[in-house]
Amino acid sequence: MRKRPIELKVIIRCFLGLNFVRQTVIAGNWKMHMTCAETKNFLKDFIPLIENINTNRNIVIAPPYTAISTFASFSNSMNLNIASQNIHWEDSGAFTAEISPIMLLEHNVKYAIVGHSEPRKYFSESDEQINKRAKSAQTNGLTPIVCVGETLEQRERGEAERIISRQVEQGLEGTNPEDLIVAYEPIWAIGTGKTCEAKDANKICKLIRSLIGYEDVIIQYGGSVKPNNIDEIMSMSDIDGVLVGGASLNPISFARIANFK
Ligand code: 13P
Repeated sequence: MRKRPIELKVIIRCFLGLNFVRQTVIAGNWKMHMTCAETKNFLKDFIPLIENINTNRNIVIAPPYTAISTFASFSNSMNLNIASQNIHWEDSGAFTAEISPIMLLEHNVKYAIVGHSEPRKYFSESDEQINKRAKSAQTNGLTPIVCVGETLEQRERGEAERIISRQVEQGLEGTNPEDLIVAYEPIWAIGTGKTCEAKDANKICKLIRSLIGYEDVIIQYGGSVKPNNIDEIMSMSDIDGVLVGGASLNPISFARIANFK
């Protein structure tokens, strides 16, 4: 097998004498897309394209629940992990439409997205519920990917930092930062083609890191990440990965993102 290159950021941090433990996590959120047949076709094309990827890069995909089992049996790549698009805080019970951590563990799911702006908006998910979901993931050995982000109106009113601080403080209360990913996803950049300027995104990611108070917490950016902007986004000091929607549905686009330069 070809020798894998070392990340530039790793080299810089080693040079500066900083302990590098932050992993790069490139995640795809398939939302309500992809049947089992489409999942198989995607993996057939995608897996060979990430075969030689750097070992410090962890590639994650959150398929819809119906495709998790198919995904688990067809993805044999060491670098490719499964995420759930949500997780409940109870193991079982009368919670129609929810998903239990035990059910996810059965399929080797390693991550759970919680607090995405879509359930926050369409299903009135609160910071308190998000916090319970994040803690449930950690208690059960899954890493939560906790999403935070402001609306365009909040940003224009100069409230972005206050909103993010509230979401971080309430959503992450009592969680373990060593087993956590936070995704900064400005709502106005999701599915709109408008990316947050890399420097502005980096500023918010830095703020999130300081609010958490743990230098090595993994922080992602999400919102119209595409093959043409991934290299700039990933060159930022406080962005350790990305959470990708639309561009993760195409194996070639997502592989280009995973193989960022
Ligand atoms: P897009 O990449 O389609 O903007 O979606 C981002 C997102 O919501 C990922 O969770």
